[in-house]
Order: sequence, then C-alpha cells, then structure tokens
Amino acid sequence: MIERADSPKPIRPEMSRAGFRYALLLCGLLMLMGFAAYGAGSPDRAKISGPNACAECHKQEAAAWKATHHFKTFQEMPRNAEANAIAQRLGVRRVKSESLCLGCHFTVQNKSGVDETVSGISCESCHGASAEWIKVHSGYSGKTAQTESKQESEARWKLAEAKGMIRPRALYQLAKNCLGCHVVPHEELVNKGGHRSGSAFDLISWSQGEVRHNTWHSKGKVNEVADAARKRMLLLVGLGVEIETALRAIGRATTRKVYAFEMASRADRAREKLAAAAKAAPEVPEIAKIVELAYSAGLMLNNERALTAAADGVSKEILRITQKYDGATMSGLDSLIPKPDTFKGKPRQAGVTD
Ligand code: HEC
Ligand code: HEC
Ligand code: HEC
Ligand code: HEC
Repeated sequence: MIERADSPKPIRPEMSRAGFRYALLLCGLLMLMGFAAYGAGSPDRAKISGPNACAECHKQEAAAWKATHHFKTFQEMPRNAEANAIAQRLGVRRVKSESLCLGCHFTVQNKSGVDETVSGISCESCHGASAEWIKVHSGYSGKTAQTESKQESEARWKLAEAKGMIRPRALYQLAKNCLGCHVVPHEELVNKGGHRSGSAFDLISWSQGEVRHNTWHSKGKVNEVADAARKRMLLLVGLGVEIETALRAIGRATTRKVYAFEMASRADRAREKLAAAAKAAPEVPEIAKIVELAYSAGLMLNNERALTAAADGVSKEILRITQKYDGATMSGLDSLIPKPDTFKGKPRQAGVTD
C-alpha cells in the first residue's frame, strides 16, 4: 500500500473527496505502456457516406441533428479558446486534421484514399458507417413498403445489421458509441491536454433532449419520447456500459493522476446506482451479476487483466439483458428514472420543416 504522504493533491476542488479515496486505492508503479489510440466511436472512414446522404430521405431527423452540439462542434470547436489550449499542450497543430480530436468531434470520410473531415458527430457516428447498408435498409428488398413480404423485410433488416447498421433497437451498440466518446477514455488527452474527462453522462437524459429525433415512424408528426419500458432498458444499458467503459479505461491507465481518479470515481458512482437498480428489480438477476462483476476487480493501476475480465463479463450480462427483456416488467426501476426536467437540451418540435 502507498504511504499517505504519497497521495497526490486533488487536482480539481470538486473531486477532492473521491480523489483522496482513489489516491489510496490506486496504487502501483508507473507502467511503461503506450496508451492505445482510442477507437470507439470511430467508424470505418472508407465506409462513411456522410450526413447529406442520409438527409436526402431523413429530412426531419437531419433537421433535428442540425440543432445539436454534435452538429455545431464542427464549426465551433476549432475556434474555441479551450480547444486551442488543449491542442497546444498536446502539440496538436490543427484540431480538424490531426487524428487525436477527429475520432470524437468529427466525421471523417475517406474518398478514394484521401481523408476529409466532413462534419461534426453525425448519423454514422451513432448508426454505423453505412456504405454497405444504406441501400439495403431502405430498399424494401427491391419492392415497395406495400409489396415486400414479412419474411423479406426481416431478411432485409438482418442483412443491414450484418453490414454494420446500428438500429435504434440495438441499445447496447448505441450506448457503446455514446460512452466510447462521453467517458473520454484517453489518458494523455485528459492528463496532459487538460481535456475534461466527460460530464455526468446519463443515457436517458442525454438521449431524450436535443439529441432526440424519433420523427421517422410518425412521418414527422411527433418526436416521440422513449416510453416507460424503453427508459428502463436505457437506464440499465447506460449504467452497464458506463461501468464497462470505465473499467477498461482504468485497466489501461498508467499514472496516478486526474484521469485514473476520475475513471475510478465514474465506475464507483455507476456501480452504486446499478446496485440500487438491482434492489429495485430483483426479478432481473443479471443486474446484480453486473454489480458483482463491477466490484470483482480493484479500481487501481496495474490491474488490467482483472479489470478487463470484469468488463468482458459486464458486457455479456448487458447483452443478455437486451436479449431477454424489453423493460415491460421492471416497474420497480421507475423511481430511478431521470425526469424530463433533466433532459439535456431541447428536443426539436416535430412537424416543423425548414
Ligand atoms: C433512399 C432513402 C434513404 C436514405 C438515403 C437513408 N434512409 Fe434510413 N430509412 C429509409 C427508409 C425507407 C426507412 C424505413 C424502412 C422500413 O421501415 O422498413 C429507413 C429507416 C432508417 C432507420 C430506422 C431503422 C429502424 O430500426 O426502424 C434509421 C436509424 C435510418 N434509416 C438511418 C439512416 C442513416 C444513418 C442514413 C444515412 C447513412 C440513412 N438512413 C439513409 C430511407 C433512407
Ligand atoms: C475520447 C473522445 C474525445 C476526444 C479524443 C476529444 N474529445 Fe473533446 N470532448 C469530448 C466530449 C465527449 C466532450 C463533451 C464533454 C462533456 O461535457 O461531457 C468534449 C468537449 C470538448 C470541449 C468543450 C466543448 C466545447 O466545444 O466547448 C473542447 C474545447 C474539446 N472537447 C476539445 C478537444 C480537442 C482540442 C481535442 C483533440 C486534442 C479533443 N477535444 C479530443 C470527447 C473527446
Ligand atoms: C448521437 C447519436 C445519434 C446521431 C448523431 C444520430 N442518431 Fe439517429 N438515433 C439515435 C438513437 C439513440 C435513436 C433512438 C432514439 C430513442 O430511443 O429515443 C435514433 C433513432 C433514429 C431513427 C428512428 C426514428 C424513429 O422515428 O423511430 C432514425 C430514422 C434515425 N435515428 C436517423 C438518423 C439520421 C438520418 C441521423 C443524421 C442526420 C441520425 N439519426 C443521427 C442516435 C443518433
Ligand atoms: C463520436 C463521439 C460521440 C458520440 C458517438 C456521441 N457523442 Fe455526444 N458529444 C460528443 C462531443 C465531442 C460533444 C461536445 C460537443 C461540443 O459541444 O463541442 C457531445 C455533446 C453531447 C451533448 C450536448 C451536451 C451539452 O453540453 O449540452 C449531448 C446531449 C450528447 N452529446 C448526447 C449523446 C448521446 C445520447 C449519444 C449516444 C446516443 C452521444 N452523445 C454520442 C461526442 C459524441
């Protein structure tokens, strides 16, 4: 165990308590391990079609997206003083063309071997790079919505998913994308660059505000909010994926600095919340299993093997939950669901065309 005098000073005032707690937990020698360039949220550039291709048919959804921070970061981030300070500390000269910022702030399309930064975080950042599924998903098997049979429609969706489409029902994959960026699992970016390590992201309030664009199935009449059953699933999957992502991030952390502390307190907060969910919905034993796994590996440096094994286990249990349940029976969770006044940003009004 480390000496008390050895614990680093809290780096930010608001993390002092957690920082002190994890200063004690996070012991270990500096590992000479290069951080892995973080790939989550970075789809295959050669398969990106770009948001304009989607907007040809998805006008309402594209209009909703244009009002979000995800869209605006393309113009605003490179001009932002904080961005330039971060870039300078890291020796990054142009935030729009050097890879470190691209993976999370922009959509990069590779056209015949040349990379072009085409937009901010866009459709394919969340729904998957589309070159191989864009025609499949919308083609009604070469027929029309009226003449395509049920079997053909099922085969079409199956093929689109096999080609990399992430549909709204694929909650685990969607959440992996959100949290792959929002946990900011990149040690040097945080420790050296001074980039924030992500806010208190929560899948319900962060997906049901400005990001919400459930206007397709109602043909633009309503921007539907997730119903009670879907919210329960979003709660479980969001917390599970947050734990999984943070455990992997701690596993790869190399120094006892702000990044490691913040990842550890993120994992700790998420597992406490999930423990409350396990009590509230005892009919779903997989929740308690995730909590058990989340406590099975010490939140400390030099523990990558145990942390990764725990994260792998968590991943399996989340997938099991998404396969076995649809949220309909988990009303015990309702008191834990964030209320509409916590939704991040304003959702677009449906039926508005511009
Ligand atoms: C040629 C028109 C067209 C283009 C271009 C298009 N879509 Fe679609 N999209 C459709 C149609 C039609 C459906 C509904 C199919 C159905 O209900 O069977 C759909 C459905 C969807 C759905 C809902 C899937 C579900 O599970 O219900 C998503 C998500 C989606 N598209 C995303 C995209 C993205 C992202 C792009 C760009 C990469 C894109 N679409 C480009 C026509 C298009
Ligand atoms: C691992 C993903 C990731 C990478 C890599 C990343 N960012 Fe970010 N960045 C985020 C997320 C997520 C937010 C939003 C944080 C929040 O509030 O939760 C953000 C927010 C910011 C903000 C504050 C928001 C604003 O626009 O005012 C700035 C500035 C910023 N990033 C700059 C950079 C720069 C410069 C780089 C490259 C050196 C970079 N980021 C690389 C994920 C990332
Ligand atoms: C930040 C991630 C993200 C981005 C960016 C994004 N989507 Fe989505 N999309 C989602 C999620 C999550 C859902 C399911 C929403 C829910 O459960 O409330 C969804 C749902 C949809 C649906 C189904 C809507 C319905 O009525 O059922 C369509 C179609 C769609 N997206 C198309 C697009 C298009 C086109 C773009 C780009 C213009 C886009 N999305 C950008 C995450 C995203
Ligand atoms: C490719 C990386 C990436 C993905 C995937 C992603 N985000 Fe983001 N998100 C960001 C960045 C970066 C910002 C900050 C943009 C800025 O303000 O400059 C952001 C900002 C936001 C904001 C606005 C926060 C504010 O300050 O008001 C919300 C809400 C949000 N994201 C929700 C989501 C949800 C929900 C998902 C998944 C369905 C998601 N994001 C997926 C990178 C991502």
